[in-house]
Amino acid sequence: MTDPDLAVIVLAAGQGTRMKSATPKVLHMLAGVPLIGHVLATAGELAPAFVVAVVRHDRDRVAASITELLPEAIIVDQDEIPGTGRAVEVALAALPAGFTGDVVVVSGDVPLLNAATIQSLIAAHREREAAATILSAHVDDATGYGRIVRTGAGDLDRIVEQKDAADSELAITEINSGTYVFGIAELRAQLGYINTNNASGEKYLTDVVELLRTSGATVRAVPVSESWIVNGVNDRVQLAESARRLNSMIVRGWQLAGVTVLDPDTTWIDLQATIGEDVEILPGTSITGPTIIQRGAKIGPDTSLDTCEIGEGATVRRTDATLAVIGAGASVGPFAYLRAGTYLGDNGKIGTFVETKNSRIGNGSKVPHLSYIGDTTVGVESNVGAGTITANYDGVNKSATVIGSHVRSGSHNVFVAPVRIGDGAYTGAGTVVRKDVPAGALAINVAPQRNMTGWVETNRAGTAAAKAAAESAGETD
Ligand code: UD1
Ligand code: CA
Repeated sequence: MTDPDLAVIVLAAGQGTRMKSATPKVLHMLAGVPLIGHVLATAGELAPAFVVAVVRHDRDRVAASITELLPEAIIVDQDEIPGTGRAVEVALAALPAGFTGDVVVVSGDVPLLNAATIQSLIAAHREREAAATILSAHVDDATGYGRIVRTGAGDLDRIVEQKDAADSELAITEINSGTYVFGIAELRAQLGYINTNNASGEKYLTDVVELLRTSGATVRAVPVSESWIVNGVNDRVQLAESARRLNSMIVRGWQLAGVTVLDPDTTWIDLQATIGEDVEILPGTSITGPTIIQRGAKIGPDTSLDTCEIGEGATVRRTDATLAVIGAGASVGPFAYLRAGTYLGDNGKIGTFVETKNSRIGNGSKVPHLSYIGDTTVGVESNVGAGTITANYDGVNKSATVIGSHVRSGSHNVFVAPVRIGDGAYTGAGTVVRKDVPAGALAINVAPQRNMTGWVETNRAGTAAAKAAAESAGETD
């Protein structure tokens, strides 16, 4: 149900200088979702009548991402006047004049804030009929945050930014989270009065607090229950802290849903992943993108799965896989590299030191050892010998190899594509297959072996090999 009296403003115009990055801060990723995506999801959960997102730095990239993540968001451009106060001012101008409800302001760089916390802030705001209600937090290290200055009686006096704070104010450990609820009329009335007379030369949104209070309005700061909820991301250290925090919540969620995670500290799971019951995840595993793992599969250790589908009961050990589909009961690794477009059928095998790309390996077929399989189809129940290379690239074009069903290819083969191996065919060890092999045929093209007896005795006289050969000959005499 939409709350017709609620609008959310998401601030995302800042540069994010402290990230030192070519990527705008709000597009940095956390559990597979950009920072701004977490905030927009929370904004959406509040079911407001309007979501307004303010952009400026790297405007087109940020705006495109916002539109993709929350198509109904209204995107507003901040002008050259800097500061969170100015950002809110331009956002308000985009709301219909007839809107008279409450405005929630959130920052695009506070990703762990959840809808329930904002809901209770809104409830507290409405209950007191306040003009502004600020979400604050008690923290161990307040460095960088605006400080909540209270009167002797404990009422909110004003917010002072780090750069503008006196030493006594810097000692305050209650900080402004950057999340607020305002009555729109009161906010509009005061925003026009804020100026840029401060250490940053910006219009601070936080200055409306003191203005509202002196106008006699009710203005309160309500501390959040746990301060990590409002952790801001301003640099890479804070990004990693928030990532670790969110990841431990995601891992815990899957554990409670029936997934065994042996080592939560070294297991990383993106928000979009789906994992079935009785899946077992071993240490050093990362599961990214919209990866799906069916029940009973065993993943890891030391495995990365990006946008993969893993079938029921499959085993994937020490593997790097992207855009791969693994059938039920199949076995992958250890030490396999599955590139985009790999499809392994049910009960199939991609074994040790095998690289695959754009290939379909049918049900029950196996590529067990030391191979490269690219642009290839393998039928069902075939065995590709150890050390096989599909030579799919002639330096200009890529070509396909087609291996039928129930094929037994020898060790150390090269399939020079384009080439087809018929159903039930065999190839000898060391064969370089340049021509199609008909169904049921045996292909061999290595030269016949010639043994030159006594060669070592003649050509390597006096060596350990010659001695060993002589002794061995003696034994058999
Ligand atoms: C801000 C608050 C501070 C609070 C902290 C909490 C102000 C003046 N200070 O400081 O009290 O403790 O958040 O995280 O509000 N933005 C714009 N336009 C701008 C500037 C910023 O949209 O001109 C956006 C940024 O993209 C960001 C958010 O506003 O998403 C906060 O800006 P940031 O520069 O990170 O503010 P802080 O210094 O963290
Ligand atoms: Ca910030």
